[in-house]
Amino acid sequence: MYRKEFIKTVGVLAVGTVGGFLINSCSVIKYAQYSIDRNKLVVKKSEFSDMQKFVLLNVSGLPAAIYLRKNENETFTALLTQCTHKGCEVDPDYDMLSCPCHGSKYSSAGEVISPPANEPLKKFDVLTDSENIYIQI
Ligand code: FES
Repeated sequence: MYRKEFIKTVGVLAVGTVGGFLINSCSVIKYAQYSIDRNKLVVKKSEFSDMQKFVLLNVSGLPAAIYLRKNENETFTALLTQCTHKGCEVDPDYDMLSCPCHGSKYSSAGEVISPPANEPLKKFDVLTDSENIYIQI
């Protein structure tokens, strides 16, 4: 009887853990489409759904992806996802970017929250019009 209870409990915990991981890994990180107009990346605002708070852009020639975040006041922030400590690519989340190499954390504005990095992420100038977001690279 005790053994059955134990197996049942472990089974429920295992399913809960796997389910949590899948849900977590399903929180989609979207790579957005863009075009290039001279030295600007042009991203359609429609790349952001109501639920999509940030997208990544894979841009050839850059050492890491660009994190493009939609802010609450309809402005956008574009950051290079290269850690300023030793250059690893940081992992984006809604409110924070974390470095998997030595644990630095950055705010969604690119400011250092926790070391060892002590410089903010590279930030790109961003302009918008009614349809598009323009990232100066
Ligand atoms: S490379 Fe990011 S914390 Fe060291």
